[in-house]
Amino acid sequence: MSKRSPFPIPFGWFQVAWSEEVATAQVLPVEYFGKRLALWRDESGAPHLNDAFCPHLGAHFGHGGSVIGEELVCPFHGWRFDADGQNTLIPYADRTNKKACVTAYPTIERNGLVMAWYHPEGIAPMWEIPEIPEFNDPSGFTQMVTREYTVHAPWQELAENGVDAAHFRYVHHTEEVPELQSYEIDGPFTKMRSSQKFPTPRGVVDGRIDADSFGPGLSSVHFSGIIDTILMGCNTPIDEDTCHMRFSFTVRKLGADEALNSSVGAAFVDEVHRQVLEDKPIWENKAHLVRPALAATDGPFMKFRKWAGQFYAETVDDSALVYEPQADYPAVLGETASRKYGSDPFANA
Ligand code: FES
Ligand SMILES: [Fe+2]
Repeated sequence: MSKRSPFPIPFGWFQVAWSEEVATAQVLPVEYFGKRLALWRDESGAPHLNDAFCPHLGAHFGHGGSVIGEELVCPFHGWRFDADGQNTLIPYADRTNKKACVTAYPTIERNGLVMAWYHPEGIAPMWEIPEIPEFNDPSGFTQMVTREYTVHAPWQELAENGVDAAHFRYVHHTEEVPELQSYEIDGPFTKMRSSQKFPTPRGVVDGRIDADSFGPGLSSVHFSGIIDTILMGCNTPIDEDTCHMRFSFTVRKLGADEALNSSVGAAFVDEVHRQVLEDKPIWENKAHLVRPALAATDGPFMKFRKWAGQFYAETVDDSALVYEPQADYPAVLGETASRKYGSDPFANA
């Protein structure tokens, strides 16, 4: 079978859960990075991510495993492992097995997210994930609202959307495409600054979209103009060709009126949600073109691809030039806010 994409799974920090999804002393089965994994929280509150299968006889820690103190306990014969994956106890033997080791992925909890560092060669984290102030300011910003999607497309296809200004007009019917003011790359980070007009029931409003990426797994996007809304967008590879996309939103509080805060936030979240449903069939059904035919006014696609390329530790073989999806993924389209308030870009084209 031909490949869907020339790209392996990128390395970096990726969201593997929202904080509240993994309780103290809980062990959960998860699948990311083409691997089956066990996500758990120790009794001191720290989250950990390990390979799923016990080195003794292969039981899955995430199905019936438990936590004692700061150790993971296998459900099959009770062997215990510390956060580094070293065997610390065999309950029916007087010595541990030094060769019994479970791969552990560095993990941090920040901004209400549990994130893990993936590198195919086990190389230690090469940058840090910052605190995003709006997600750590409960007096100024609303509680986080979340949405999640499984997208049948490789990480790079979703990430490339961030530099594609023109698609907003044609996929989302926004009145004008965002106007890119700057796009700067600094190692694993990017900073994009743009202005954008937003359609609303009361007319078109001038606004801004400012997006910062912290490696391949986390972008924070600040929308201003209507009301300050901050979105953390996290794309975590399930495997080479599939992503778990999670959005976390917070909205600046308008005052003490909780109902108003939450209705303004909900309208924005619903609009972004509908836009994702518009984007999803494009991402899932598009081919990857190694040499796209770009317009002079297209966004900085090649600059983006150069930035993205740094996250592949394994070989990128793009000699086929065109990489097609293996199946069709029909669109599930709802009525979009953009279609209600925006004009149809294809009319009289
Ligand atoms: S398989 Fe895990 S302790 Fe035996
Ligand atoms: Fe989009």
